[in-house]
Amino acid sequence: VTYKIGLLGLGTVGTGVASILLDPAGRNHLLKEIEIKQVGVRSLTKTRTVTLAEHYYTDDLVAIVNDPDIDVVVEVMGGIEPAKSLVLKAIANGKHIVTANKALLARHGDEIFTAAKATGVYVMLEASVCGGIPIVQALKQSLGANRISGLTGIINGTTNYILTRMHAAGESFESILADAQKLGYAEADPSADVDGFDAADKIAILASLAFGDRIKLGDIYREGISGITNTDIAAATELGFVIKLLAIARRAQTDTQNSSLDIRVHPTLVPKHHPLASINGVTNAIRVEGDPIGEVVFSGPGAGSGATASAVVADILSVVASLKAGQQINQLMGCNHQHYASVQPIKHTVNQFYVRFITRNQPGVIGDLGTCFGKHGVSLESVLQKPVLLKTSQDVANEELAEVVIVTQKVAEGNFYAAIAEINNLPSLHKIPTVIRIL
Ligand SMILES: NC(=O)c1ccc[n+]([C@@H]2O[C@H](COP(=O)([O-])OP(=O)(O)OC[C@H]3O[C@@H](n4cnc5c(N)ncnc54)[C@H](OP(=O)(O)O)[C@@H]3O)[C@@H](O)[C@H]2O)c1
Repeated sequence: VTYKIGLLGLGTVGTGVASILLDPAGRNHLLKEIEIKQVGVRSLTKTRTVTLAEHYYTDDLVAIVNDPDIDVVVEVMGGIEPAKSLVLKAIANGKHIVTANKALLARHGDEIFTAAKATGVYVMLEASVCGGIPIVQALKQSLGANRISGLTGIINGTTNYILTRMHAAGESFESILADAQKLGYAEADPSADVDGFDAADKIAILASLAFGDRIKLGDIYREGISGITNTDIAAATELGFVIKLLAIARRAQTDTQNSSLDIRVHPTLVPKHHPLASINGVTNAIRVEGDPIGEVVFSGPGAGSGATASAVVADILSVVASLKAGQQINQLMGCNHQHYASVQPIKHTVNQFYVRFITRNQPGVIGDLGTCFGKHGVSLESVLQKPVLLKTSQDVANEELAEVVIVTQKVAEGNFYAAIAEINNLPSLHKIPTVIRIL
């Protein structure tokens, strides 16, 4: 008996999956009992890099999810529709699902998991978050004994690649982004990565696994990296930090009931000795804190054909092993969340801030800033004042303006922004180019 796979999509990830399934030697022996029955694609004439006879291909993806011979549908086509309808149809037909589609799960996970529960099938999603890093399995099973208190991750390779290069070479955000697009690290429309949408999808999935509740994507605070300049990178470095786009999910610290979550994606100043500060390039990493484990850090390739396929095929193996054992649904492999988590609005959180001001170059400016902050209970940790260089020359200072970088102590966001509102009205202020939270 062999277990039959219907593959929806043969692009970057699908090709990696097919390559592993067609070459089982030296891998898990169970792979010899798994075979591809059919591959659904958009174009039947495209040249493919895997060798599969013509009869494997179809552009009728509905036929795949209706094929009674197929045990597991592997959805690696991406997008919301028709992926969503195909997955729901496959579930209704009693097929198990393995998917890499974070966008679909973060938006329609509730409907998909409810349907899967009703028909008693698995929806496996290891590949949907952080490619090859086995974080989903870790949260569902290996760390299952822990009370998880927080997840902190670099879970978008594109933005980490851009920020790493800004730190290393002082190149501008725009020129590195253009390069990343040429190298295939960034999409033609970079918004999903650069504006933090992709990281928000992933942290929604991870938070729901870690904390056992469903997460509404709209509840997640999200800020991207396009406002980060080389001036901020230089100032952060001088202060002993590295700027990273972090995705954070933790029990809300200001909530005494401890019943709500604090989930956000934003650029963050990370102390340079923190384990996440040295995660560079397209590498992903996630730090998990729990009781009694303390802290574990997972890192590795967050995307790419082989790495993502490694996660997809591991999920196929888990499903097949469970089917072979004749098990009912193994609870540790499923998702049984019923309720939505309460997520704390960012304005109710407590954070430490880095703020860069451009002020008029006149006496008393720092005093004015200090007075506004003091009035709203914001204590300052450090103040750095620098000349502002003229755009036309690297070395000539603009006599009229000064740059002031302030690092606050931890403060309620409400108080901090009340002070900023007042500072915005100071005649000595020119502008506030950047505000970045500190880890
Ligand atoms: N790439 C990564 O490193 C990575 C990492 C983690 C997760 N993922 C996720 O994995 C999924 C797939 O990504 P990918 O990079 O492999 O995408 P991709 O290279 O664009 O491949 C998509 C595949 O699906 C097929 N397809 C798409 N829409 C179709 C439709 N309407 N009808 C029939 N076939 C259709 C395409 O057919 P044709 O070949 O005929 O065009 C192609 O084979 C996405 O959900 C993505 O978010 C990707």
